[in-house]
Amino acid sequence: MIDVTKIRAQFPILSTKVHGKPLVYLDNAATMQKPLAVLEASRLYYETMNSNVHRGVHYLSQLATEAHEQARKTLAEFINAADVAEVLFTSGCTMSINLVAQVLCLSGMIQAGDEVIVSTAEHHSNIVPWQMLCERTGAVLRVIPLTNEQCLDLQAYAELLSPKTRIVAVGHVSNTLGIINPVETIINMARQNRHDTIILVDGAQAVSHLKVDVQALDCDFYAFSGHKLYAPTGTGVLWGRRELLEQLPPWLGGGEMIKEVSFEKTTYNELPFKYEAGTPNIEGAIALASAVKFVTALGLEQIADYEQSLTDACMKGLNELGVQILAPHVPHSAVLSMVIPGVHHYDLGTLLDQMGVAVRTGHHCCQPLMKALGITGTTRASFAVYNSIDEVNIFLNCMGRALRMLS
Ligand code: ALA
Repeated sequence: MIDVTKIRAQFPILSTKVHGKPLVYLDNAATMQKPLAVLEASRLYYETMNSNVHRGVHYLSQLATEAHEQARKTLAEFINAADVAEVLFTSGCTMSINLVAQVLCLSGMIQAGDEVIVSTAEHHSNIVPWQMLCERTGAVLRVIPLTNEQCLDLQAYAELLSPKTRIVAVGHVSNTLGIINPVETIINMARQNRHDTIILVDGAQAVSHLKVDVQALDCDFYAFSGHKLYAPTGTGVLWGRRELLEQLPPWLGGGEMIKEVSFEKTTYNELPFKYEAGTPNIEGAIALASAVKFVTALGLEQIADYEQSLTDACMKGLNELGVQILAPHVPHSAVLSMVIPGVHHYDLGTLLDQMGVAVRTGHHCCQPLMKALGITGTTRASFAVYNSIDEVNIFLNCMGRALRMLS
């Protein structure tokens, strides 16, 4: 059972006043607020163990190394990775996806004419790295279109799959449509078409809302950010299948990622260090593990049910106001995007801000999706476990007032 009052007490920032009004923070898909346990983990790291990892024989270095590697274990358990060495710490989801695209470029595994499938609804960070790969290798980008219901068109996807399909990269939850993509089906279809297709799932909008099991999913890579999971910015994870990570070349060169260096020949470290050149974000990894413990203690199923009740109430209220959301008939995660004819999203967002409500407006780093929908942007409300039904009601009330002013 989610006790929202108790949860809110763990987020000091939620008592902020905005223009003299209580903050209603509904921009969680952009970044989530951090609980005291996460803030405390960061502070404790610097107060009690700050040191460099993996290289020191001294007390503090061993303490920091142990905490850093324990954090990796927590992350591995969180996504049910079979092997803790498959969990690579990155600076976020964008870096995770770029890492995969770049090492695939370097690997020589992608040939001119190979095909990379993404969807219309992807965030730019799951489009541009693949375009860069295509530019460098001569591979061709293919795009899954949307149905009239604004979800991924699986029939069109089936037609795109071919012996040339080498990579499939899709989001688990759309940051703009808010819909949960049928990633299990998408992965099965790709595997049936060609068992060695490299499959990456962008989990940036999923991990704090849904239970993720990378083994059950049967993908090759799963990428996510820490800051959308109640953890600090500049943290993230790339989970990759061991056989592939071992086969692929290193990316960034430097300390940590080497076994031996000489001017004649350098050999590379084992996983996960092969992909972690330089001093890592030690405090960030430890704080990320603390955020995972926060989420795990609440229970992802309970979080999902609770957030679903907020999303449903919000959808119902918007419907009563005559506001249309994107993909209204498709299962949603905790994200609702609104497009209101005759009302510019920027004006609406600015008015809501004056009333204390933080929503996001614009294209949400999804320009191709905006083009496909024939719009310039949306007003997006997104929930986290600390949002309350009272906040949903305040938001709906403010929406009503703002719309009366703007129409
Ligand atoms: N990717 C983040 C969003 O959807 C910033 O808002």
